[in-house]
Amino acid sequence: MKKFKETFIDFATPYLRNATEEDKADIQLKFDHSFDVFDNSCNICDSLSLPSELDETSRIAALFHDTGRFPQYLKYKTFRDADSCNHGKLGARTVLKNKLLDGLPRRQRNTVLGAIAMHNRNKLPDFISKELRICTEIVRDSDKIDIIKVLIPHLQHVGTGNEAPLMGLTEKPDVVTESIVKALKQGKQGAYNEMSCLNDFRLLLLSWAFDLNFEWSRKEMLRREYVEQIMEQLPATKQIHDLYKPVMEQLNS
Ligand SMILES: [Fe+2]
Repeated sequence: MKKFKETFIDFATPYLRNATEEDKADIQLKFDHSFDVFDNSCNICDSLSLPSELDETSRIAALFHDTGRFPQYLKYKTFRDADSCNHGKLGARTVLKNKLLDGLPRRQRNTVLGAIAMHNRNKLPDFISKELRICTEIVRDSDKIDIIKVLIPHLQHVGTGNEAPLMGLTEKPDVVTESIVKALKQGKQGAYNEMSCLNDFRLLLLSWAFDLNFEWSRKEMLRREYVEQIMEQLPATKQIHDLYKPVMEQLNS
């Protein structure tokens, strides 16, 4: 993996070096996130005993999954795909254009490219190969666990700068969007495009409990006490309180 880590660092470092002082924190966030997602993927892989090729492919895909974030931010100064471009697809194109994984056998490279392109989709298509599905699911779980880690402090101290990860959403105390609460009640993942305020973002993070594919990820969400921390930031209403039990049951399943 050392070679791939070096390739990633060589690719991402110029974005950091050339950034203005005010943009540096946002880019550093994605740089650190890439390595933390890689660490999560290693934990998932270690828990699965996969064939060695798929194990390696999944770890590489995790490290490179947000390659698109660097050119996306450079061009649009946002991480909000709806206001810029699909960062998954841009990531796959960027890996190809910069020949970042040309040292990898074609089959593995294609799986990594597929996982990068699909890691941010709401749902995976039915027709993909078993190998690509497992690889992408590992990336998606690893990504979600780290995004929650990054967002909890941002959501706690809104208005203290570095708001890019909050996707332009604002605090509207006591407001929650019914369709997102409904999705959670039904044990489904909330939709990004239905969010209207930061409470919706908090609910969306909670709803990810229902879209985690591996036991390691569910247990990690429990171990890091994410549910409790997010619930504390939400309005103290019965409607919200009632969501706690089904989410915890799902994570303990
Ligand atoms: Fe990510």
